[in-house]
Amino acid sequence: MAVDCFIVQPGTSLNGMARVPGDKSLSHRAVFLGALAHGTTHVRDWLPAGDTEASLSAVRALGIEIERRSATELVIHGGALNAPSQTLDLVNAGTGIRLLAGIMAGQPFPSVLDGSAQLRRRPMNRVVTPLKQMGADIESQNGYAPLHIRPAALRGIHYHMPMASAQVKGAILLAGLFAEGETVVVQPGPARDHTERLLAALGADIRTEGDTITLRPGSTLRPLNYSVPGDISSAAFPLVAALIVPGSAITLEHVNLNPTRTGILDVLREMGADITITETGLAGGEPVGTIHASHSALKGIRVGGEVVVRMIDEFPIFMVAALFAEGETYVRDAGELRVKETDRIAVMVEELGKMGARITEMEDGFYLYGAQKLTGAVVDGRDDHRISMSLVVAGLGASGSTTVLDARCTSDSFPGYAETMRSLNADVRVSPITT
Ligand code: S3P
Repeated sequence: MAVDCFIVQPGTSLNGMARVPGDKSLSHRAVFLGALAHGTTHVRDWLPAGDTEASLSAVRALGIEIERRSATELVIHGGALNAPSQTLDLVNAGTGIRLLAGIMAGQPFPSVLDGSAQLRRRPMNRVVTPLKQMGADIESQNGYAPLHIRPAALRGIHYHMPMASAQVKGAILLAGLFAEGETVVVQPGPARDHTERLLAALGADIRTEGDTITLRPGSTLRPLNYSVPGDISSAAFPLVAALIVPGSAITLEHVNLNPTRTGILDVLREMGADITITETGLAGGEPVGTIHASHSALKGIRVGGEVVVRMIDEFPIFMVAALFAEGETYVRDAGELRVKETDRIAVMVEELGKMGARITEMEDGFYLYGAQKLTGAVVDGRDDHRISMSLVVAGLGASGSTTVLDARCTSDSFPGYAETMRSLNADVRVSPITT
């Protein structure tokens, strides 16, 4: 069987300017909230990736008409949802299935939510438990998808989230739109706040005080004219590549700089990274700006506590940066990495190990001594987009050529990844190899 791989040749510095695709978290929410708003929502710079296309298809299967003006421009005719005639397949999208579970719990018709074998391995009790406390009728398979949801009367709850998760918070708040009485979510730390920002922009009665979010149902959601900013989680790959490859200096434009997402920038700067950030305005209710990054002498760092959530998706690429930093890097409080698309601690330690990296795994993190010399190798992205893209960057900092098996999965969040890297002068090609 032929599979697409990345072939990475180190040796050229990264230079120039690029724009990364639209934010994935916002693109999921734009289709879900566009479906719930009464009227016509216009979305530009939407992310046309595997995960978000799955959410879009699910919304269409709920009877919502979505015009596709182009790959990145949507016109959503929102209003009442209708009973789907088939299982809603969220493929690999964890955000898609968990947010949609919250919406479906409040509908007057039954639905079944399911996904790929990978999604079926991801824990669903984190949303099923609070939704059941709201009165939802949901049956999972021992805490995993498929989720069978039947109509039930929901009531608001006061919920202390055991983990700082934007997906859990989002599912509860979206269910709260259909509940009787107010819903209060208390988060243990600042998980990304996109659901709250969007709901407020749509006219929902929602307010945040410290770590407590209160939603009162009853407002009619109004449609938006919405432009999705670039995804900082995608920007992180060329950014770290520029930091570790000598002679590099790049500019990334129109990146989402929501402070609940910028932990990676704070941590890299503390490591000595030469990064300058210029805020240029707002897009979709989120601060956006330009990021300049140049090759830098990085130092190791201790990472734990509050910042972990603000950079949760960036740990695979952060691990690569840390391997190129002088001294010790020590990460803790990051046990959530084990229940992402893959166990991102174990998989990164194993795959980077094939390139000669020595990293010690801990239950909730890892430590390593940096300034390691990596050697090009054949490594496997394991059907996890962020693992695959991080290994490409490791290959750019290694000696010799690297082959990353599984290039396809990067289109779950970053369509055109190789093209973007090449536009910055990095030698990253996609090529089929026979396995
Ligand atoms: C997301 C929340 C995070 C993140 C995921 C996207 C979201 O997950 O890892 O990629 O859009 O709400 P958790 O909510 O599980 O932390």
